Amino acid sequence: MKLESLLHSEHIIKIEKMSIGGDGVARMMFNERNVVIFIPHSAPQDQLKIKISRTEKTFLLGEIIEIIAPGPSRRQPPCPVAFECGGCSWQQFNEDEQIHQKEELLKELFKKFLPQIDYQLLPTIQTSQKFEYRNRIQLKHLGSKLGYFKSGSHEIVPISDCLIAQAPLRKKIAELNETLKPTAELKKYEVKINQEGQVEHYQIGESSEGLAFSQVNNSVNDLLIEAVLNSISKVMQLDSEKSITELYAGSGNFTFPLAKKFPKVKINAVELNPRLTAAAAENIKLQKRVKQINFFTAKCEIYALNYPLSRNLILLDPPRSGCHPDVIRKIADTIPENIVYISCHPTMLVRDLALLLKQRPEYRIQYLQIFDMFPQTDHFETLCVLTKVESH
Ligand SMILES: C[S@@+](CC[C@H](N)C(=O)[O-])C[C@H]1O[C@@H](n2cnc3c(N)ncnc32)[C@H](O)[C@@H]1O
Repeated sequence: MKLESLLHSEHIIKIEKMSIGGDGVARMMFNERNVVIFIPHSAPQDQLKIKISRTEKTFLLGEIIEIIAPGPSRRQPPCPVAFECGGCSWQQFNEDEQIHQKEELLKELFKKFLPQIDYQLLPTIQTSQKFEYRNRIQLKHLGSKLGYFKSGSHEIVPISDCLIAQAPLRKKIAELNETLKPTAELKKYEVKINQEGQVEHYQIGESSEGLAFSQVNNSVNDLLIEAVLNSISKVMQLDSEKSITELYAGSGNFTFPLAKKFPKVKINAVELNPRLTAAAAENIKLQKRVKQINFFTAKCEIYALNYPLSRNLILLDPPRSGCHPDVIRKIADTIPENIVYISCHPTMLVRDLALLLKQRPEYRIQYLQIFDMFPQTDHFETLCVLTKVESH
């Protein structure tokens, strides 16, 4: 019998753990098969009555009908639209458990895809700011609705507040709700706190559009930068003979702190988005680092095929899709002393590491550490520092 026959059937299950994507994971036996069920809005160790809402070839999706016994970390989500808007997947359980689940997710990925690799997972870095942390949000506007897209759809969930946005942005949402005129075509607005600390908003796609990428959580980002600098100091001496290649550099979030900490080192930074490299170029002039930093507007995979990379240190901070395989291959051919990989998608981190370590088993993972950049969601940043060990 196929899994399809289970559609709309009801079951009592227990949530074992959370998954990447945010759903809880349970299992049930079906025709002597151990089948995985993904259940949105669930919490670890919840005992639930569920209904199968979708069937796939190898797994099921379920929706909660009744919480029979809540897991120990379950709570009422502080935000009234937490289950409708696609933003926060984990508001229904407390922050300690959120961190625990993030660590388990990372460990499980390593166990599954890099079972032979030794690593030390350092304690997760977090701040006490579990709400009101985002310095920018993107709102959608259609008709008289202003809000976020529902998870996996283009339907707008109207909001009058957003608990993870910084206080001035929360005020701005209320103000925009009062002032924006109804619109017949979908508009998207970026609302953010700019570098001067002022709230600004602009329609995405208009000429006034600001920077394309910036880290959303200032306090955790500061801790991440500090950790990157410290981990580099621990693993190598960066003197005037040495250089750094920084891939996926944005507007220089790591570049400028690196340049300040290691003033003798030359940095070649690569970023695809010209608005970000233009901002970096401006900053290079301002900080009088023209001789120290070069910014290239290019795809990293193209750059990597055409220019030599540093044999000392390569720092990477790719988007959620991870690195192009040509980038990893070129790093493996270059064999730098150290590699610092900052990842916002652990599955891609593990995929890229597996590709690198297959070609270069002589690398050891020195540090692996989660940075809780996005509380209330299943997302997180991971810092991974690799060092080449001399083979005997
Ligand atoms: C996660 S962000 C990191 C940016 C920067 N390191 C920071 O902390 O602000 C990833 C960056 O990679 C850029 N990017 C995406 N694909 C790229 C590619 N193929 N080549 C170069 N840059 C790319 C994006 O524009 C974005 O700025």
